[in-house]
Amino acid sequence: MTETNGTKTACPFCGGKGKHTKECPLTNKSKLKLKPWKRLIDLFPSLSSEEYEALETSLKQDGQQHPILVSSDGSIIDGYHRWKILGDTVNYTVSPLSDDEAYHLGIVLNIARRHLSQEQKREIAITLRKSGKTQQETADLLHLARSTISKLVKGTDGKSINDIVSTSPDLRVTINKREYPTIHKRIVDGETPKQVAPDYKVTPKRIKQIKNQVERKIEKAKPSKKVLPSFVPPIMQKICDALLEAGAEKVVAQDTFILALGDANTLIKAIPDSRISLIATDPPYSLGDMHEDADSIKFIERGPMNTIATEKWDLNCDTTLIIPEYKRVLHELGNISIWTSDHLFGKYSTLLKAQFDWVSFGAWHKTNPVPQVRKRSWVSSVELWVNAWDKTHIFNFCKQNDMHNHIEGAICSNRRVAPDGSTHIAQKPAYVWEKIIKACSVEMDFILDPYAGTGSCGIVAVKLGRMYIGFERDPKWFNVMVNWFTEEFGQSQNIEGETA
Ligand SMILES: C[S@@+](CC[C@H](N)C(=O)[O-])C[C@H]1O[C@@H](n2cnc3c(N)ncnc32)[C@H](O)[C@@H]1O
Repeated sequence: MTETNGTKTACPFCGGKGKHTKECPLTNKSKLKLKPWKRLIDLFPSLSSEEYEALETSLKQDGQQHPILVSSDGSIIDGYHRWKILGDTVNYTVSPLSDDEAYHLGIVLNIARRHLSQEQKREIAITLRKSGKTQQETADLLHLARSTISKLVKGTDGKSINDIVSTSPDLRVTINKREYPTIHKRIVDGETPKQVAPDYKVTPKRIKQIKNQVERKIEKAKPSKKVLPSFVPPIMQKICDALLEAGAEKVVAQDTFILALGDANTLIKAIPDSRISLIATDPPYSLGDMHEDADSIKFIERGPMNTIATEKWDLNCDTTLIIPEYKRVLHELGNISIWTSDHLFGKYSTLLKAQFDWVSFGAWHKTNPVPQVRKRSWVSSVELWVNAWDKTHIFNFCKQNDMHNHIEGAICSNRRVAPDGSTHIAQKPAYVWEKIIKACSVEMDFILDPYAGTGSCGIVAVKLGRMYIGFERDPKWFNVMVNWFTEEFGQSQNIEGETA
């Protein structure tokens, strides 16, 4: 999203203060010609005349409270009636979402705001099912349980939704390509082609073909191992130069990432205002600064057992001091996700609330936590992350079930190993970053991790097509990070000239 009524604001892609560059995929210099989006308009009934008049009165009395949402070609995703009333004077914001994502968002926003009767919901459910959506997807979009959808659609004629869909003359047996990733995911998640096939009215063989097709596409999209040092485009070079000027001891870069050795509090000053779309980071928790660490086991002959509290990098850092800088570098559409411990959660929450419109939390349940050897307290199997954003943020909501603020899985099993044989005790597994990055950013977005450690967040970010900037102040872990990036993406440029 880069424009409001054609007035340019800082763009997350080109980052300039109103100046779009050629690299910016959202380059769009003129005011958009807004138009209704037939695909959505056809789905929802028009406002009744009373509702329309009430909206007109409210807009006259209170003005337009929120911008309407449009796609880059001017199609209205949300706010059709406000546009009808206000015409070209309507305030709008442009969304960078894909067609399908925007369509989903339009449905969800309309469902949430409109008072639809059961009959109207029924009609929408039938239309969605006929367009190829599965029962589960229809239920997710309408914020209803799957069983409610069946009951709703049975309605007065007693027909089940499958009857209606299967007898419908305009049923599309050709599966919409946008469904392919969902089909692939269902198979990967454990459903058999035979179970999935009836939802799409095709044979299990066709489902298998689609799964293989998606897999081939994923394989093709994997970044190839580059042999030559990658080109560092001017947009990245500028940040690299600023980082060196700000005191970075070393900067290594490619076209999609920058890794800098140095202190986060200093280096962040080199990041231009509003450049970052997501701050995803896992800072030290300063557990060693706590007087009593009930979980660390003290051995007289060897000191405390190797818990985080004994790691040097975890000591004496107040990672909340950087929050005003987070506010400065984050784009208004951006999001923040910071991993934190229970003792710091309140502090983060209070400080972030003072800077952002919204603060919430998420929890990662580790299925293989460190056992409670002393059996004196709970097994510590949950780690928290805190989210913050302004009302204008972009959030890629997909299926209800996938959007719980909860992640479950094992702690990292294949840790990166430093030359001295040690591993980073806090290395996060890829799946935790993947969930956050996918929900809170889009391709080409800049993601900042000021406390990068081994760079686990960055590896996932770059694989997902994002631009990544990572800081790490410990040379040992910085080198581990650089090596990992080299393994995955080939040789980088050492910004002072040599190859890293
Ligand atoms: C919890 S670890 C991050 C681990 C990382 N998520 C991973 O998966 O490897 C925090 C990292 O922040 C680094 N760090 C601590 N204070 C820092 C600072 N002021 N500037 C930059 N890095 C810092 C530490 O050296 C440590 O590697």
